[in-house]
Amino acid sequence: MSVTQHTPIAIPPSARFWDRIANRYAKRPVADEATYQKKLQMTREYLEPHMRVFEFGCGTGSTALTHSPHVAYVRATDISAKMIDIAKSKAREAGVKNVEFEQSDIESIAASSAKYDVVLGLSILHLLDDRDAVVSTIYDMLEPGGIFVSSTACLGDHMKIFKFIAPLGRFFGILPILSVFTTQDLVGCIEDSGFEIETKWSPGKNKGVFIIARKPL
Ligand SMILES: C[S@@+](CC[C@H](N)C(=O)[O-])C[C@H]1O[C@@H](n2cnc3c(N)ncnc32)[C@H](O)[C@@H]1O
Repeated sequence: MSVTQHTPIAIPPSARFWDRIANRYAKRPVADEATYQKKLQMTREYLEPHMRVFEFGCGTGSTALTHSPHVAYVRATDISAKMIDIAKSKAREAGVKNVEFEQSDIESIAASSAKYDVVLGLSILHLLDDRDAVVSTIYDMLEPGGIFVSSTACLGDHMKIFKFIAPLGRFFGILPILSVFTTQDLVGCIEDSGFEIETKWSPGKNKGVFIIARKPL
């Protein structure tokens, strides 16, 4: 199996927003525990002990650590150094050895020869400048037959006003990058990258979309 090589990359200013809120984010309870558990379970059905998992936008690492006993290895990345510090201390406290946390920007990561069986992008695709490029990179990072699991707020479905608010909020540093698109746009992007969607689940009205997609063999 090929070895993962990641070249160090510059961290953009947008990381500052996430660094600022990292401590609060870590303390905040999950907004909808039942939905979170269901997403974990739906993901878990795809995990096998030999698998290598890549997660981007991992935040404080809870999901990576939860899945870690069920796979061989997890590489979990986030743009925020503070989020990564918290994730690393959680891993140390829990004695987890097969998760590597790393600060990196998914928008700068090059698809290397490293191949993963599963990629997780949870609550992150709407926080990127170039979602389509990232989904295409993820496609390249996966083994044929590999799985891409995403959970995404599709603000274009119900809060189009964010198209105007988001740039202002970003300018004043009170909002992160926020991309406004619909569920249909996202499905189109994932399919256009070559994935076949196996599951598309919406936990409720205006609660985003959870998609499990496969790279064909
Ligand atoms: C809404 S939080 C989601 C965290 C976690 N995935 C979860 O579901 O709780 C978004 C995370 O994405 C990270 N992030 C934002 N832009 C990123 C980028 N370009 N590359 C990597 N991580 C990024 C933020 O630092 C933050 O931790």
